[in-house]
Amino acid sequence: MITNIGLLGYGHVGAGVAKLIKTESELLGDKLGWPIRLKKALVRDLSAARNFEPEPGLLTTNPDEVVGNPDIQVVCELMGGLEPARTYILKALEAGQHVVTANKALLATHGMEIINKAAEANRDVMFEAAVAGAIPVIRTLKEGLAANRIQSLCGILNGTTNYIITRMSQNNLSFEDALREAQEAGYAEADPAADVEGLDAAHKLALLSALAYGVLPKISEMHVEGITKLEPMDFAFAAEFGYVIKLLAVSSLHDAQGPLEVRLHPAMIPAGHLLAGVNGTMNAIMIKGHASGDIFLSGRGAGMMPTASSVVGDIVEVARTHQIVSSSLRPPLLGWRTLKNDVVMCMNEANLNYYLRFRVFDKPGVLSSISGVFGRHNISLAQVIQKSQSPKTDWVSLVVLTHKAKERDLLEALAELKTMDTIDDMRLIRVEEFL
Ligand SMILES: NC(=O)c1ccc[n+]([C@@H]2O[C@H](COP(=O)([O-])OP(=O)(O)OC[C@H]3O[C@@H](n4cnc5c(N)ncnc54)[C@H](OP(=O)(O)O)[C@@H]3O)[C@@H](O)[C@H]2O)c1
Repeated sequence: MITNIGLLGYGHVGAGVAKLIKTESELLGDKLGWPIRLKKALVRDLSAARNFEPEPGLLTTNPDEVVGNPDIQVVCELMGGLEPARTYILKALEAGQHVVTANKALLATHGMEIINKAAEANRDVMFEAAVAGAIPVIRTLKEGLAANRIQSLCGILNGTTNYIITRMSQNNLSFEDALREAQEAGYAEADPAADVEGLDAAHKLALLSALAYGVLPKISEMHVEGITKLEPMDFAFAAEFGYVIKLLAVSSLHDAQGPLEVRLHPAMIPAGHLLAGVNGTMNAIMIKGHASGDIFLSGRGAGMMPTASSVVGDIVEVARTHQIVSSSLRPPLLGWRTLKNDVVMCMNEANLNYYLRFRVFDKPGVLSSISGVFGRHNISLAQVIQKSQSPKTDWVSLVVLTHKAKERDLLEALAELKTMDTIDDMRLIRVEEFL
C-alpha cells in the first residue's frame, strides 16, 4: 500500500513538504507502516526557481492532475489566497480526496463551508500548519485536551510582529526602523499590512477559538488592532512599570452560555510571565482547560521547514486514519458546541486594566481636572507618572495605569478628555494581568 499526495503550490511551504517527504521517506514509512509518495504539484510557472529541486515531471500547471486525480488520496493546498484555493479544496473533497491546508485566511473566511463539505463528503480537512507553524496546537486542542472545557487561550501568533516588537523593546528602535530591519532579514513581506495590522494573527485566533469552543468567530466581530501606533517611549514606560509589550491574541469564555471574549491587540504583560520571554520570530500559546490547568506551547511560527513539519504531520495522520478508521466512524471536526450562542462579546463590555499616555500642558489644575474626568466615569487610577519632555516646552508626558475598568467607561472618559485643549496625543494600551 502507498498513500499518494498531490500539492497545490510548490512555493516556500510546498518545497519544504517535498523535501521532507523525499529526505525522510524511510522515517515516515517506518512511522506510518507504508510509504508516502509525492505524485504531482500544481504551480503557475514551470520555469521558476525552487527552494528544493522537484523530481522531473512533478510540477504541472493543470489543476486536474491534482484535484480529482483518482491516483491521489490526499491534496495539500499550499498556494494561499481565497480563490482558486477554495474552489480546488471543495472539488477535491467532492471527489473523495482528503485535504491538508496551511491557509488560515481561507479557513477563517470560508472555514464553515469547507468543514461542512468535508462532513458531507465524509473526508478529513486538516490544518495544523495554519496556526503557529510548527507548534502542534491544533492537535493539542482536538485530542490532547479533548476532555477539557477550554476556559481561555492567550498567545503570540505572528512572528513578524513579535520580531518587530522585540527589536523596538530591546534596541529602542522606532516602528518604521524595526519594520525595515524585519523586511531586510526576510521576516516581513514587502507589503506588511496583514501582519502589522493584526489580520494574520486574527485569522489564527479565530481558528483556535473554533477548535476550543466549537464556534468560528467572525473577524468583523472581533476587536483587531495592530502594532503600527506603538512608540519606543511606550516600551520604556512599560519597563518602568514591570511590563513588556506583546501583540496578544486572547479568547476566553466567562460563562458557558457565551458570549465569547475574543480580541487581538498590543498588551502590556508582566515581565515575569512565560509569554513575556517569547522573543523574535517565536510564537507561543497558553491554553487553560478546566481539568488540565495551564498548558504552554512555544516554537517556530513560520518558515519553510517548521511549517512543512506540521503539514507532513497532518499527511501522516490522514493517511493513517484513512486506512484504519471505517468511513462511518469519522469524527466531526466541530461537532460539539461549548457556547449556547455564537455571539462575540462587544469590546465595550471588556473589563481590563489600561495604560494611557497623554501629552498635557503643564499648568496648575490640569492634573486634577483629568482625574476628575476619570472619577466621573468610574475609573480608578492605580499609578500616575509625569515626565517633562524637554526643558524648552510646557508640555509633559502623563502616564496613567488604571485599575480594572469597563472599556465603554474608559472610551467615554477619553472622549471627554479629547475635548480639553490642555491634552493631546492620547495612547491606550491594554494591560493583561493573567489573574
Ligand atoms: N511561508 C510560511 O512560513 C507559512 C507559514 C504558515 C502558513 N503558510 C501558508 O501556507 C500557504 C503557502 O505559503 P507559501 O509561503 O509557501 O506561499 P508561496 O511561496 O507564495 O507559494 C505559493 C505557491 O502556490 C502556487 N500558486 C499560487 N497561486 C496559484 C494558482 N492560481 N495556480 C497555480 N499555482 C498557484 C505558486 O506557484 P508559482 O511558484 O509558480 O508562482 C507557488 O508555488 C499560504 O496559505 C500561507 O498563508 C505559510
